Amino acid sequence: MNRIIEEANSLKGEITPPPDKSISHRAVMFASLAKGESRIKNFLWAKDPISSLNAMKSLGVKIEVNDIKEIIVNGQGLQSLREPDDVIDCGNSGTTIRLLSGILAGQPFLSVLTGDESLRQRPMKRIIEPLRQMGAEIYSRAENRFPPIVIKGGKLKGISYEMPIASAQVKSAILLAGLFAKGETTVKEPHKSRDHTEKMLKSMGVDLYIKNNTIKISPPSQELKPFDINIPNDFSSAAFFIGGACLVPNSEVIIKNVCLNETRTGFLEVLSSMGAKIEIFNLKEKAGETVGDIIVKSSSGLKGVTVQGEIIPRLIDEFPILCVIATQADGLTIIKDAKDLRAKESDRIKAMVTELSKMGVPIKELEEGVEIKGPCKLKGTEVYSYKDHRIAMALSIAGLIAEGKTTIKDADCVDISFPEFYSFLEILQK
Ligand code: S3P
Repeated sequence: MNRIIEEANSLKGEITPPPDKSISHRAVMFASLAKGESRIKNFLWAKDPISSLNAMKSLGVKIEVNDIKEIIVNGQGLQSLREPDDVIDCGNSGTTIRLLSGILAGQPFLSVLTGDESLRQRPMKRIIEPLRQMGAEIYSRAENRFPPIVIKGGKLKGISYEMPIASAQVKSAILLAGLFAKGETTVKEPHKSRDHTEKMLKSMGVDLYIKNNTIKISPPSQELKPFDINIPNDFSSAAFFIGGACLVPNSEVIIKNVCLNETRTGFLEVLSSMGAKIEIFNLKEKAGETVGDIIVKSSSGLKGVTVQGEIIPRLIDEFPILCVIATQADGLTIIKDAKDLRAKESDRIKAMVTELSKMGVPIKELEEGVEIKGPCKLKGTEVYSYKDHRIAMALSIAGLIAEGKTTIKDADCVDISFPEFYSFLEILQK
């Protein structure tokens, strides 16, 4: 499906973005390992977390959904999963395949995991290597590079592992395998990535030692505690409307109940250094996470910045929308140290460079990032999403400030994380 976006006069109003995707995946997976009934409110009913939910069902976990769309997971404990009857389809979801591989590395049965065309081109060696060191038998296509992955798990031992890249998916896979390993498992990241796994496991009674970028986990002596969670809303989905409200003239948008975990909000720090008009209010704690409302106003006079180093993992999913914002900032914006963007749902560096160039943006591809010279008037044209939800949404926001019509090809991929994206866009333009 294609979407046509026209230049907008303003974005005004209040929105509640969809529930957090990372927390939704973890809630359904971790509740499946607990002993007892967990209740998940405000689950993200979008394709990616649904892949995790179906995967846990295929491992024999009893999961029900009530009439108000809450999920009730009847966890039977750490040793309760059973061999799936069929290949597990993780769809488009890197979080599903990588976290689940960590769990399955600890199970004494055979599992095969696959996914869609995009997922089958995403790197898996980064989890296969540490999980093998822990003792799992694990193989995948193309010399252990790409899915499908075959896992025969069980009898793991704790390891000490220094991760070459900061990745919450890899860190989580190792920590989850560590639940089933003999002895202590230590993971160290070069920079801190999102820490929802650590927060949730701690709330379930797991003994975790965290210092700077090092985490140690020991196999629990008791079953994991079930939980009731009301999932806060997704900062990475909110980011598109933060960007939209900054760029479209005469805008003022309030975004409600957003998870503001600081391992996720590097984008806000960058925007404030660019001079964006953003305020946060109503801060509170929810489900062990900091949550707040965000108000964003049109922000003229943005300045170009350099973004690099430790902040990159804290804004990794906001790269596409940050590129769009940079087109309106005065001077050069340089984004570096972000090579892993080439291994997301699409090669996001190449995708943004190719598509923003079509819209007339002076943007240069770097091996590990981009350079964008602003400000520049965008022109509407036909652009491609690469079937990547975040590319589709970022280009749609670009369309709001482009002259004429912008056609986003294959825009229905927004279903992966934000099925209501286009209806929100319409509401804010009324
Ligand atoms: C995620 C971690 C990040 C992020 C992805 C979700 C998670 O991936 O890009 O959208 O839920 O753990 P990496 O761990 O590959 O950086």
